[in-house]
Amino acid sequence: MKLLEERILKDGHVLGENILKVDSFLTHQVDANLMREIGKAFATYFKSTGITKVVTIEASGIAPAIYTAEALGVPMIFAKKSKNITMTEGILTAEVYSFTKQVTSTISIAGKFLNRQDKVLIIDDFLANGQAAKGLIEIIEQSGASVEAIGIVIEKSFQEGRKLLEEDKRKVVSLARIQKFENRKIVFMEADA
Ligand code: G4P
Repeated sequence: MKLLEERILKDGHVLGENILKVDSFLTHQVDANLMREIGKAFATYFKSTGITKVVTIEASGIAPAIYTAEALGVPMIFAKKSKNITMTEGILTAEVYSFTKQVTSTISIAGKFLNRQDKVLIIDDFLANGQAAKGLIEIIEQSGASVEAIGIVIEKSFQEGRKLLEEDKRKVVSLARIQKFENRKIVFMEADA
């Protein structure tokens, strides 16, 4: 997605070996116009696949996911990272290990929001090691729903996530794919949409 790549080049900052800071438009301050375009791009790609729900994980997945859900005309559900006192029954959970933070956390979704007829599109802001997507797939499949594909805003293709998901026969559609960081410069490879 050209608009997204241009914005990453303009406002993204490479931190250390493998982190891209995009807090001015995606992970902290959010550019709603760009999110709307991202939502439309995913919706155009998936319009004929019969998606019934969009699922993401809090926090930074929520913005691209809600615009994707709006463009597809379906609900969006976000997995929670901490237990909420109102979540009392029928909770589906999975363990997610974060390589970045080196902690395992339990993510959860209330089972009543997913059923066997659902065809789910997972949306997330970053694909790095793929652990978040793996946890979401596990939760969604516990409900009997099927995962149609994983839509990613920014994929760091030099990390393991895509390989891990494709080895599991999952379809990954990324709007920007970063091949490498070279002297703090971002080098893209061809994106999926
Ligand atoms: P994984 O989810 O692909 O397995 O990756 P990893 O464990 O390495 O990432 C953990 C967290 O760090 C995730 O967010 C992920 O989106 C984020 N992340 C990974 N690489 C980058 C990067 O290059 N830049 C930025 N800005 N974030 C990155 P999270 O902990 O779930 O945080 P949030 O969504 O609540 O903000």
